[in-house]
Formats: sequence, C-alpha cells, structure tokens
Amino acid sequence: MAKKLSTQEILAAARAEKAKQAAASAEGAAPPAPAEAAESAPAEIAPQPAPPKKAAGTPKSTKDILAAARAQKAAGAAATVEKPVPSQPAKPGPVGKAVAKTGQPAAAAGERPSVQEMLKAVREGRKPAEEAPAPPALRKPKKPVLPSKPIPRGATAEEKAGRRNVLLALVATPFAAAWTMFGVASAAGLLGMARFMMPNIVNEPPSRFKVGSPGDYAPGTVSTKYTAQYGVWVVNAEYQGQGLIYALISICTHLGCTPNWLEGEQKFKCPCHGSGFYITGINFEGPAPRPLERAGIRIAPDGMIEVDKSVKFQQELGQWEDPASKVEVA
Ligand code: FES
Repeated sequence: MAKKLSTQEILAAARAEKAKQAAASAEGAAPPAPAEAAESAPAEIAPQPAPPKKAAGTPKSTKDILAAARAQKAAGAAATVEKPVPSQPAKPGPVGKAVAKTGQPAAAAGERPSVQEMLKAVREGRKPAEEAPAPPALRKPKKPVLPSKPIPRGATAEEKAGRRNVLLALVATPFAAAWTMFGVASAAGLLGMARFMMPNIVNEPPSRFKVGSPGDYAPGTVSTKYTAQYGVWVVNAEYQGQGLIYALISICTHLGCTPNWLEGEQKFKCPCHGSGFYITGINFEGPAPRPLERAGIRIAPDGMIEVDKSVKFQQELGQWEDPASKVEVA
C-alpha cells in the first residue's frame, strides 16, 4: 500500500513537477516520453501540450537563457522542499503558516482544505489557503442576569412598584434628598419645641393639708408624723407664756439641711453643721443665723387643724405674732 503523503509533500511534488516542465521547455529539450511522464506525474495532473521542437545545435536566444536560469532556480527550490521530512504527527499549522506569510487569515482548526482542493488550487495558480473559510466571529459574553429582589408577602406588585417609585423620588436626586433631610430635621425640631413648651409634671404634696384635731397633740410634744411627707413638725408648746399649736418648717436656716428632733435633749439638731434650735424654733447654737420658720395654721370648719405651707412666718420679722401662724390652746 502506498504511503500517504502529507499536504506539504504533495505541494512540493507538484511545484517540482511544474518547475521541471518549465525547465525542459526553456532548454528546448525533447519532452519526456509519454510513458515516463505518466509515471512521474500524478494521475490527476492533465498532460501538458508539447512545446515546439528546436533543432539540435541551434544557438539559444537571450530569452531562452533567462528562462533556463529561472527554471534552474525553481528546480533548486523544489529540491530543497523535497528533502526527506521525518515522519511526525501533522501539526495543525502548515496551512496557517503559509497563510501567515501571505498575510491572509488562518483557517479555523479542523477545517483544513483537502488534498484535492490543494492540488486544484496549485494547478489554477491560486494559494490553497484562499479557500479556507474565515474564522467564526468571536461572540461577546452575555451579561449575567441578576435575580430580582423577592416581593414581600401581602404586597401586590402595584403597591411594591408605587413604594419603589416614592423611594426613588425621595433619594433619586441630591435635590430631593436634601429636601427630605430638611423635612426630617424640621419635624424633629418641632417635636423638641413642643416638648419644651409642655410643663414638667412634679408630684409635690399639696400646700394645704390637715394634721388631725387639737386634742391629738399633748402639751410639750413634737409630732414628726408629717415631716417626711410634708416637711413640717406639729408642736404643742408654750411661747411667751401662751400655749400654742404651731407648725415649724423642717428646713435649717443655715444652708437648708433637715434637722432632727432629739426628744431626750428637747431640741432640733442639724446634722450638717451642728446648728441647734429650741422646741420653740429659736436658734441657740451653731451657724444658723435665725429661728426656724412657721407655716400657716388654723382650725378648719370641720374642727381639724389645717396647715398651709404656702404662707411662712419669720420670728425676726415679728411675724410670729400673726394669729395665722398659731392656734391658741388652753
Ligand atoms: Fe444646718 Fe448648716 S445647714 S447647720
């Protein structure tokens, strides 16, 4: 079985044959016998018309000499191509290389022209690679489609679209965003102003309150029952030879601390700086500059003692003489 020739070898043989024929015609030699030509040329090559015979010994013209030189050069090139090539696996690029030399586009891999096509192209004087189809155009990678956000349950598509439009309108442009921020800041300012205008609620005890009947207070006693809640001592004692019930305010006249009633010593003692006050409220020791103050007091229509802290009476001002500052008892 004959060895299968590579494309390169077939092309080289065809070119060599063509060059031989050209040389023979240039030199005026007799064409090879039809039998020899049939043996050397491939079966597919059509027989060439016989060149005109020239008489032996006829002198060569300049044209003939130039043609012989060109044929010799072509024969040398063919001999170079006909060098034995080691059998290697066919590379995908011979056609591509030949095309690259001519500046034509390379054929796509796997679409190399067949041997017959190449021979036909050589006979017609064309480049085999001319018939190679153009490579397919590169496709642009498609952009991945991002998944849309999930629609919340209970919201229709129209509601969602409307909400999205509102949000877009609020933040779409810097102008809209600035107005939105201005609106939010204004609302916050109005809320703060409203809170400032509303009064703070303070759970203070009422200024007027009842502290029982006069019979509840024995002479020479101090009641601390209402000190914690109302800040007063209710005292039944003598002042200037007169038995009285009066209400002393439990605030030290030095710096405002709350003195303690010491039953054993019969005095009010301030824990802050040591001021002392008699049962009558007169100061007698420590830094306190003046006596304790009295609150308003009276017998209510129901016979109960009513204290009014909104009114105060100061001894150094002679206010203890006011009947509203005391309740006389027998
Ligand atoms: Fe009472 Fe100073 S506050 S003595």
